[in-house]
Amino acid sequence: MSEYNNLLVETKGAVLIVRINRERALNALNLETVAELQQLFDSYRDNNSIVCVIVTGAGEKAFVAGADIKELADLDSSSGVDLAAKGQHLMMTIQDFPRPVIAAVNGFALGGGTELAMACDIRLASEKAKFGQPEVSLGLIPGYGGTQRLSRLVGRGKALQLILSGEMIGAAEAYRIGLADEVYSPEELMDKAVKLAELIGSKGPVAVTLAKESINRGLDVSLPKGCDLEKANFGSVCGSEDKNEGTRAFLDKRKAEFKGR
Ligand code: CAA
Repeated sequence: MSEYNNLLVETKGAVLIVRINRERALNALNLETVAELQQLFDSYRDNNSIVCVIVTGAGEKAFVAGADIKELADLDSSSGVDLAAKGQHLMMTIQDFPRPVIAAVNGFALGGGTELAMACDIRLASEKAKFGQPEVSLGLIPGYGGTQRLSRLVGRGKALQLILSGEMIGAAEAYRIGLADEVYSPEELMDKAVKLAELIGSKGPVAVTLAKESINRGLDVSLPKGCDLEKANFGSVCGSEDKNEGTRAFLDKRKAEFKGR
């Protein structure tokens, strides 16, 4: 039996697939689900048998339709800060997860759903996906990092347009503005996500981890500081066994066998 009430977790080879499983509430993130996701990502942090994680929603209709509005209805100022802190901590854990995390956005990704997708490294969307930050319609603002990550991803103007209007957009528009990285038919979405995860998983693990870190951390600092970070990480990969194996395999015209160290 699963140790989670609201998650379905499976492995496909070295790819971990996590399905948010609250179909009756369109996979809305109640606090229990946030806590379960936090526990899951914490427990896999040092597990190197996993090369990539895919996050998706159970069923055909929703990725995640937001934070759970039933819980939001009872918040006051202090419990609001507490809820935002828990959600933000989870999103940061996913962003800082040492292996890549792919969002397979299979349907509604609203509010906390768009925020969850944005905390992931790459967003693959089904043609049926719908993105949006509709919090202002509820008299709220995004609380799981949406005001910060959306503007970084799509620019200030588009982020303001989407967050102030609460407008929902389809997959094609999300792709056009850079919120979705690829769009696939619903039938092929998971297959494409697994293939991308396996492709990434075939590369040098130390390099993948440090490339992710260099991009994500670099975006939060000035360009010279970001380049310093890249330089330090370049030094780290140059000291790895994987780099010796990868360059040697190229020169020997054979496939590299990376060890992840
Ligand atoms: N929280 C709790 N329950 C939700 C939910 C949510 N975010 N979204 C949907 N549900 C529930 C509905 O209440 C409904 O439950 P019942 O069957 O018990 O009535 C069930 O899921 C199915 O939903 P609908 O009947 O509404 O389905 P629909 O196809 O008519 O509409 C929808 C789909 C447009 C996604 C609509 O459900 C909707 O607008 N949902 C709310 C989206 C939203 O506002 N999300 C942002 C939440 S705020 C947030 O996320 C804050 C933050 O950043 C931390």
